[in-house]
Amino acid sequence: MRSLIDIHDFSVEEIDKLIETANDIIANPSKYAEKCKGKKLATLFYEPSTRTRLSFEAAMMELGGNVIGFSEASSSSAAKGESVADTAKVMSAYADIIAMRHPQEGAPYVASRNASVPVINAGDGGHNHPTQTLTDLLTISREKGRLDNLTVGFCGDLKYGRTVHSLIAALARYKNVKIVLISPSELTIPSYVRYEVLNKNGMEYVETTDLEGAMPSLDVLYMTRIQRERFEEEADYERLKDSYILTEDKLKRAKSDLAILHPLPRVNEISVKVDSDPRACYFKQVHNGKYIRMALILQLLLEADGVIAPEDRNYMLVNKLSCGNKRCITQTEQELDQLFKVTDPEAGICRCVYCEAKVFTK
Ligand code: CP
Repeated sequence: MRSLIDIHDFSVEEIDKLIETANDIIANPSKYAEKCKGKKLATLFYEPSTRTRLSFEAAMMELGGNVIGFSEASSSSAAKGESVADTAKVMSAYADIIAMRHPQEGAPYVASRNASVPVINAGDGGHNHPTQTLTDLLTISREKGRLDNLTVGFCGDLKYGRTVHSLIAALARYKNVKIVLISPSELTIPSYVRYEVLNKNGMEYVETTDLEGAMPSLDVLYMTRIQRERFEEEADYERLKDSYILTEDKLKRAKSDLAILHPLPRVNEISVKVDSDPRACYFKQVHNGKYIRMALILQLLLEADGVIAPEDRNYMLVNKLSCGNKRCITQTEQELDQLFKVTDPEAGICRCVYCEAKVFTK
């Protein structure tokens, strides 16, 4: 059963096909109005959401399907201690496809290993957010006409910003994409993105704290919110929260065809005055999110009906290792297989498949 847990679960060709389908849905919505008649989507959201949950629900309704689910853990049996694995088994009896958001890294992957229907990762802690990435790729391709030959700046909280991690992983597979990472030194990208994505793919990238200095080189500027909910100390959030505020003045040095993206919600990092700038694409991005999720639901249900055979992930089981990341789903879920992927055999480095934290074997 194929799920979307990590953006690499879909090849570049498959992502191109999703983008093509989304563009066709935008042009011919009535053609798709009954494609999911009789099907149910379950939205299992253990964390707050406006766009992702409601765009999934709108997507399924516009495909003629129905929606069930919960929007907070406290209104589900998770509040009584039910595991993610059991919830996934139960929901497989009620729904044809599941979209899950969870604060713990790797939780949707655990769900996918226990569900008998496709599971879509709608955001797992500070780890990944692959459907936001599909939204971003559709937006970039519609705005710039290409996904190759781009300089993309990421600005803000690159440490906890899961949308950043997934989008960099996706862009690594396109040609001649240069990355500019703009953040305070405390909020730089996690090591698995630096070593497993940027370095291993030989991507050209620079790290800087200077947004204005980077501005003239950028084709795409991806602004992000400082992720208050991931900080252990409120004082650290207060110190860093206004590190970057994009204003009309700062955009004077930008290209005339820059595309400004933001996964939203915005707090203070883009002045509302920028919204009327033709380069501001973040509300168009919101629209695109619904259409690409329609394309994704269609594709996964097509595969689940046995029309297309899914590929399995190939990880090794190493019971004597354990993941030390306290935000990982392995910390709370019972009897979970300790699965790892070997990323650097010579140095004895493995990574937890649930959250990608580094584990040493030597
Ligand atoms: N972009 C995004 O994930 O927004 P929500 O948190 O509102 O779903």
